[in-house]
Amino acid sequence: MTLILNKADVASVLDMKECMNAVELAFAELSAGTAVLPLRTAITPPDGLSLYMPAYLKKMEALACKVVTVYKNNPSKYNLPTTIGKVLLQDPLTGDVVCIMNGGYLTAVRTGAASGVATKLLAREEEGQVAGIFGAGVQAKMQLWAVCEARKISKAIVFDLSQQAADTFIAEMSAKLNLEIIKAGSPEELLVADIICTATSSATPLFDGNKVKEGTHINGIGSHTPNARELDTAIVKRSKFIGDSKEACFKEAGDIIIPVNAGEIPESHFYAELGEIISGRKPGRVNDREITLFKSNGLAIQDAATAKLVYEKAIAAGIGITVEI
Ligand SMILES: NC(=O)c1ccc[n+]([C@@H]2O[C@H](COP(=O)([O-])OP(=O)(O)OC[C@H]3O[C@@H](n4cnc5c(N)ncnc54)[C@H](O)[C@@H]3O)[C@@H](O)[C@H]2O)c1
Repeated sequence: MTLILNKADVASVLDMKECMNAVELAFAELSAGTAVLPLRTAITPPDGLSLYMPAYLKKMEALACKVVTVYKNNPSKYNLPTTIGKVLLQDPLTGDVVCIMNGGYLTAVRTGAASGVATKLLAREEEGQVAGIFGAGVQAKMQLWAVCEARKISKAIVFDLSQQAADTFIAEMSAKLNLEIIKAGSPEELLVADIICTATSSATPLFDGNKVKEGTHINGIGSHTPNARELDTAIVKRSKFIGDSKEACFKEAGDIIIPVNAGEIPESHFYAELGEIISGRKPGRVNDREITLFKSNGLAIQDAATAKLVYEKAIAAGIGITVEI
């Protein structure tokens, strides 16, 4: 029997704090060598892009594959979203697909969770810090939620090119998090923040990295193609650079590929994978002046760990529909 979970089902059981715990364990497995994480496979039918993201976490007993498609003409032609995702969760003992769940909300929460874990490990410790969020879309909202789980945040600042997106973000997230959120009039106004998340669709740098304060922690989650970047060379150069995966960063992240190819930083500027910080193999922040930077490309291990969590909680709550396929 296969359990089917729609977006509302997933949202009703998926909590950021629990997702952060699951994602942290997944990164620890990646670092310990007990995760199987093949590179994502891409197929390009005429109208779009289809990505297959499989992963297996041995200790967590999580085996899953996410299917994500990006079809730019979907909204105008078929009244469907551009990006559609579903996760197939398998029983590692039998291989059978035990659950098929909506992957959109899950992706946003697991992406937030990775930044939450990075913030917990790398940001300065003190309470009352200010969060700054570039972008006001789906991912940006989850970034702020995660940062608020990792640190006691006193205020947030958001900047988006779309005033409407920023206004919606403020209305929704200030109510959800019971937090004061203000709109920045320019990227510079946001740089007073202590913890910055970049979660935009921009292919070019969002701010002048020379203007970032000492001691800032940054989570960079947008722009994951070799020619696109949200972060300029200056901020990458000034930062201790931690990535979700070294392989993914050097294959997908323009934020580091562009300055390395330009000879502005050596490849060795990549300091550590997040799993190496979690396991304690490499130290994270060593003083309050350091700028730490976590670059997230999005890994299938995050999906597998989160899908397992959602499935177990859905079973416990008795939600979803079960079908014989
Ligand atoms: N790292 C990961 O695991 C992961 C996972 C999912 C999505 N993403 C990426 O996250 C990014 C955001 O995705 P989303 O689903 O929230 O998209 P979205 O379209 O909902 O929101 C993106 C927002 O960025 C804003 N924006 C674009 N350029 C900007 C700029 N220069 N300054 C400020 N705001 C700007 C847009 O106006 C828009 O509101 C995308 O690049 C996506 O590919 C990363």
